[in-house]
Amino acid sequence: MRRRLCAAAVAAALAAGISAVHLIGGGPFAEAATGSSASVPSGVEVGVPGTAPTDPTGGAATGAAGGVATTARGTAGSPEQGVGSHVDAGAGVGPQTRSTPPLTGPLRALAARRGIAVGATVMTSSNLTDSGYSALLGSEYSMLTPENDMKWSNVHPAPGVYDFTGPDLDVAFAQSHGMAVRGHNLAWSADNPSWLTTVPFSRDQLIAILHDHISTVVGRYRGKVAQWDVVNEGIGGFWWDHIGPDYIDMAFEWAHEADPSAELFYNDFGAEGLGGKADQVFELVRGLRQRGVSIDGVGLESHFDLNPPPLGDIAANMHRLNALGLESAVTELDVRLAMPANGPDLDRQRGIYNDMLRICLAAINCKTFTTWGFTDKDSWIPSAYPGYGAALPFDQSYAPKPAYYGLRAALGG
Ligand code: G3I
Repeated sequence: MRRRLCAAAVAAALAAGISAVHLIGGGPFAEAATGSSASVPSGVEVGVPGTAPTDPTGGAATGAAGGVATTARGTAGSPEQGVGSHVDAGAGVGPQTRSTPPLTGPLRALAARRGIAVGATVMTSSNLTDSGYSALLGSEYSMLTPENDMKWSNVHPAPGVYDFTGPDLDVAFAQSHGMAVRGHNLAWSADNPSWLTTVPFSRDQLIAILHDHISTVVGRYRGKVAQWDVVNEGIGGFWWDHIGPDYIDMAFEWAHEADPSAELFYNDFGAEGLGGKADQVFELVRGLRQRGVSIDGVGLESHFDLNPPPLGDIAANMHRLNALGLESAVTELDVRLAMPANGPDLDRQRGIYNDMLRICLAAINCKTFTTWGFTDKDSWIPSAYPGYGAALPFDQSYAPKPAYYGLRAALGG
């Protein structure tokens, strides 16, 4: 039986080397999820009406009671009535009224109450020197993903040469803020160093190189990284083409050997709902399970615009993954807007953040919910989608946007 810990105890536990895995998913947060106020972790007050953070868009839920999915995690938080909400009946998460005063406290404390970890990425460790950036990241979020520092081009710049400067800073920051770490990623077709991709290595040479990389990187952070994206967007691409599809089985086994306590994920985009690529990923992970490979979950990246996949499909996908005994994590959520962002679009964005978190809360196998960044100041969107941006819960000046309140409302805040 895993013990429940508050943030300070989490930091102490990490300092005492208690495995990071015990910090998320069914562990310390789960008990808090029974919804009884007795188990509300520290930092969360059952607010007296009027103490909830003022939501400038006034989106506090006011609407009709409805088919709220109640799970072991208590009632799903309050949706936004009419404001940007596009609740989909198929998702089993309907509109509801707010019957209790909004809870106060940072996102991470509200999420702990619901038995999940809310996470965000750090673009690179250099961002942590920005006090506004690090203060917001460390206070609001209970999980951190290095967005780039753990990628091959950064940690393995030359044959036999590893550079952990960036990831060490990210992990140390997480530990000092009682945050769990999500490692990203161990095998991907992009952001690989030229020494790897330009030399005609044989299959066996590449197997040895990948094995050494995974053992070295996972081994270094053993007990400090709770979840790993072992294979990222791995159907086709460099490793698939040069080793073969079985590189995936091998990668998971090597990661498991290097840290048996870490949860291991296959992570991909465009596979959040049903059909097409989602079915391809489902068949891939079902095959891994049938072959007894040590995989624990599937990461649903969730890089959306204002037309995400049907929520019912996302819920159904999480459900069928659960039937395979797999977790489903939201790993890279952002919702890009045409710039300059206008009021109605910001409200729609708020609804999508609210819906995605409630879908996760309603799914018994969704324990971690991560956004790909947290401030519009540091986001990959503008360079990848010219004319788009404003994809994250906080704006360029670290001020909360409607999307942030959509997340709070989903958690009862
Ligand atoms: O840090 C260097 C900086 O020193 C240098 O001056 C600058 C100019 O070359 O480059 C900086 O590195 C960039 C890095 O982002 C940090 O900003 C890399 O060139 C750039 O390629 C890298 O882009 C990242 C991209 O993955 C490729 O790794 C994005 O930030 C990151 O958001 C994106 O994330 C991916 C996930 O890993 C997988 N899923 C999709 C997602 C979006 O593409």
